[in-house]
Amino acid sequence: MAATHHPDTRHAVYIETYGCQMNVRDTEMLSGILRHADCDIIDAPEMADLILLNTCAVRERAEQRVIGRVTQLSSLKKRRSVRIGVVGCMAQHLKESLLESLPDLDFILGPDTYRTLPEILKLDLSDRHADWSTNRSELYEGVPSYRHDGGPVAFVTAMRGCDMMCTFCVVPHTRGRERCRSWQDIVAETAKLMDEGVKEVVLLGQTVNAWQDGDMGFGSLLRKVSETGIPRIRFTSPHPLYYGEEEMRAIAECENICEAIHLPVQSGNTSVLERMNRRYTREEYLDIAHTIRRQIPHVTLSTDIIVGFPGETEAQFEDTLSLMEECAFDSGYLFKYSPRSGTRADREFEDDVPDDVKQRRLERVIELQTELTRRVQRAMVGGEYKILIDGIGNRGPNQLTGRTRGNRTVVIESAEELMGRMVQVIIEETGTWTLRGRLIG
Ligand code: 5AD
Repeated sequence: MAATHHPDTRHAVYIETYGCQMNVRDTEMLSGILRHADCDIIDAPEMADLILLNTCAVRERAEQRVIGRVTQLSSLKKRRSVRIGVVGCMAQHLKESLLESLPDLDFILGPDTYRTLPEILKLDLSDRHADWSTNRSELYEGVPSYRHDGGPVAFVTAMRGCDMMCTFCVVPHTRGRERCRSWQDIVAETAKLMDEGVKEVVLLGQTVNAWQDGDMGFGSLLRKVSETGIPRIRFTSPHPLYYGEEEMRAIAECENICEAIHLPVQSGNTSVLERMNRRYTREEYLDIAHTIRRQIPHVTLSTDIIVGFPGETEAQFEDTLSLMEECAFDSGYLFKYSPRSGTRADREFEDDVPDDVKQRRLERVIELQTELTRRVQRAMVGGEYKILIDGIGNRGPNQLTGRTRGNRTVVIESAEELMGRMVQVIIEETGTWTLRGRLIG
């Protein structure tokens, strides 16, 4: 009789993902590696014998949520033998101290160690394990991957790591030095995803437009990916320092590259930017933003902003508000500065903006961005847009959500099975962050 797997040899794995799109992509890889090692990926933690939390370290809040979650999940240990692991940036950031402070945590793995994941399953249940070794060439080429939802939008890694060394940011310390995939690997992965029914790829990198392969720069990569014929391409996040003509022309000229650019500014004041080591001035950023708006018709521009960076005065903060207005950002991710151990800002600057001041500044940028977003969305009402249906709405039956090329979410109603389809809609109404549309044509 042919050997079959005894059911007992299979493991049930539950994975929770925190943080950025990179982590979502890494979870697909963790899932792929584990399925290859006789594991099933399941949705219920109480049925799992391995639980992974794939984590973020970018702000303290993100870490606190995970610590709370580990404590909560560890109650499952009373009923079944389950291993709990924290993987990713928080593991790399806090290292052994995480195991010391969480007695029910079984292992930690940093972002460069995922190939060793199946080894965990072979350990004794009482063994604790920690690996935060780094490998500056690890790109996980050839590693299996599994997309749990199988949706029409997929992430494709262009590069891992970051060399920018912004003084506030823990990422270079958790994800290590920058490394780029070859253009052939990126294009091959895109083509494979297309075969599986994917309609949109998002090229990922901490500073994705610093991507390089020999003489090829990011603009050429965009064109190569465009040539695959995939209906939509996005990328995140470019860094202003690397913004160049070549990529702007590619976005303007290639029909399947969406004209939505997420360009983190962090602050509107040159001296704050300098202390952040962002390597551009307010004027240089404004110049790029204006050039983008001029060269790419209908572009949407979004950003990240940190308020309350050490030493930020009221006047410097006002510069952020005025820059936001001048750029007329379509949307923004807005944060209070959170000191991170291991970073230069934490070593060299005192976190001297009191929390109530940070909070007030945060509320003001939120208020301004809400108004800017409302303006853009109001102007869209009555207009016709093509959207890619990629989600299910949650405010009623038959609701679906899709995105415009500009990355705005539109909620529509349809009893038809439209997931993954490109449909034409007319915008009827605008909420704060989403639009409501009706199918036409
Ligand atoms: N505190 C607050 N926000 C931060 N970010 C990165 N590091 C910090 C920090 N220490 C924000 C930046 C970045 C986004 C991903 O997170 O705005 O672009």
